Amino acid sequence: MKNYDQLIDSALVELESCETLISLEELRLEYFGKNGEVTSILKSLSKLSEKDKKEVGKKFNLFKQNFFKNLEKKKNIIEQSQIEEKLQKEKIDISLPTREEEKLNSKIHPITHTANEIISILGSMGLNYEEGPDVENDFYNFTALNIPENHPAREMHDTFYIENNLEKLVLRTHTSPVQIRNLQKKKFPLRIFAPGRTYRCDSDITHTPMFHQVEGLVVDHSVTFANLKWFLEKFCKTFFDNEKLKLRFRPSYFPFTEPSAEVDVNCSITSGKIILGEGDKWMEILGCGMVHPNVLKMSGVDDDQLKGFAFGMGIERLSMLKYGMPDLRDFYDSNINWLSHYGFSFLETTDLSWR
Ligand code: DAH
Repeated sequence: MKNYDQLIDSALVELESCETLISLEELRLEYFGKNGEVTSILKSLSKLSEKDKKEVGKKFNLFKQNFFKNLEKKKNIIEQSQIEEKLQKEKIDISLPTREEEKLNSKIHPITHTANEIISILGSMGLNYEEGPDVENDFYNFTALNIPENHPAREMHDTFYIENNLEKLVLRTHTSPVQIRNLQKKKFPLRIFAPGRTYRCDSDITHTPMFHQVEGLVVDHSVTFANLKWFLEKFCKTFFDNEKLKLRFRPSYFPFTEPSAEVDVNCSITSGKIILGEGDKWMEILGCGMVHPNVLKMSGVDDDQLKGFAFGMGIERLSMLKYGMPDLRDFYDSNINWLSHYGFSFLETTDLSWR
């Protein structure tokens, strides 16, 4: 009997000195595991006399209760201290002062600022924010947009292809594939816009290999070209902050819309300076149209029941027209003088949710 008491005492002392969840578990196995000490003692109870059996059984039942009660307590203590340690480690020292100088000089990049403006206008006009991947497959970037294999319209896009044996992957040449990803959800009415990076194998004063677009798509039972005109007029007047701005819808061609149009805004150009909203010259700003029935069909949407309008515009282009940057490539040169001249202060740009 005596060494049983010793065993019990030392088990409880050991339990008390455990400091990790792992050592607690090891201890549990040592005594109560399949081959644990207590387990084998209990297994051999049958060999004892009736009287001893009763006594030992009682002793170990009590021990078992005690052991597991203490084990649970210890476990809680260890877990609690682990949480506290983690909280302590992850504490952010917010008392560190900001660097005054940097705060004054740093600016919001015009693309971020312009994207934020566009996002807040389109959002307030009832469209929902959506995103799509930069790496697209051929189906989403071309085929589902009514640009089949070998279609000459593919040449409008100087595409970056990604080497891959399984499927034809591209860096998306426009944000239009996001239209398809959302049409496929088949939840109508669909009212979305999708800003993001786009890529084309091109570089000159008006092209960079990576640039940004915003796509818009509205699909419902009775969407008309008149709705599209109203929508874009309201958007442009708000974006350029000019109620007098005139829009011209010029017939054009895009494979994914029918009819298609390019939209120009009126402007004057005097000694190279463009002023929007006055004069009788025109400046192209975006492409748009009524979603082509083939596009709806290919996404499994009933084109008898549902109609849609779509538009796509370049963020850099809109930024250049609004804020007067002469060369697109400057956006990506990281020239600190350019950035501090054309950048925006934190107070001018309130919504920083978009990267
Ligand atoms: N995806 C076109 C481009 O990159 C832009 C565009 C034109 C988008 C017309 C549209 C649209 O949604 O309806 O040139």
